Amino acid sequence: MERLDVTETFSGISLPGHLHTQESLSFAVTFPFRPTDVVIATYPKSGTTWMQEILTLLFSHGDVLPAKTIPNWERAPWLEQIYFREALQDVQDAAACRLLTTHLPARVLAPALQQSKAKVIYVARNPKDVAVSFYHFHRLAKFLPDPGSFDTFLTQFLEGTVHYGSWFDHVKGWLGQQQLLDIFYVTYEELHQDLRGTAQRLSAFLGCPLEPETLAALEQHCSFATMRDNAMANYSLIPIEIMDHSQGCFMRKGVVGDWRDHFSPWQNALFNRRYQEEMGDLELPVPWHG
Ligand code: A3P
Repeated sequence: MERLDVTETFSGISLPGHLHTQESLSFAVTFPFRPTDVVIATYPKSGTTWMQEILTLLFSHGDVLPAKTIPNWERAPWLEQIYFREALQDVQDAAACRLLTTHLPARVLAPALQQSKAKVIYVARNPKDVAVSFYHFHRLAKFLPDPGSFDTFLTQFLEGTVHYGSWFDHVKGWLGQQQLLDIFYVTYEELHQDLRGTAQRLSAFLGCPLEPETLAALEQHCSFATMRDNAMANYSLIPIEIMDHSQGCFMRKGVVGDWRDHFSPWQNALFNRRYQEEMGDLELPVPWHG
């Protein structure tokens, strides 16, 4: 099957042109956010879909119907993807609290977000696991370049030449917004370790009550096994020309530390060195466990 990859460059980062046009990107950066909006911001493969599901359940007070009947890209539309533009148009007209999703870097969206007072939820993940997940995703996503070998892909990931650019810049950019935005930081690893506690903290941050029954429904519905089988969350509805599911599943493994099965000692040392150069002693406000 042929790849659809066309690369667009926007604000210094390369993006899949099949999904993004200059027009759709300009639309994203001038999006009229409202104070009641909730924006999920992530680097790819960091737990975006998981957070979309968690917030869907939180906002529905544990009613699983929306999560089981409406695709996630309609529940929490992407700001920058032309493919889901219709969903964004629909949500634009919604009166209630709107849930939006983006992979764009902070420098692009922060001005509009700061002005609007919208709430932001930033999900980060151990970058070694992000690299592994992103590599496998490239194999099934026909709108991304063929990743070649893992070693080749890892080099590009560390150089920041993959789509959406450098993981380091993305995380540092959004971390830098701590004093400027109403922002909630969480890690994929934290969701794994304590989904209950994180849902409670999210409920407090969003001012959205979380009854014990809601929490139970949320935990059950947002488990990896349930989401893997939910066509409204697992991207199986996306046409084969865009995601070739014979090459792997979007809901692939859902574990912490899969990098250990992929990295050679040499690749690990290289990664650690690069991490130190880029991040120094900068800590995320929430833990992750490699
Ligand atoms: P893996 O490829 O490591 O399995 P995103 O939504 O940002 O693209 O991230 C996708 C990654 O999150 C995939 O990681 C996917 O399996 C994982 N994921 C999605 N839902 C999950 C859940 N409920 N529990 C654990 N991992 C989940």
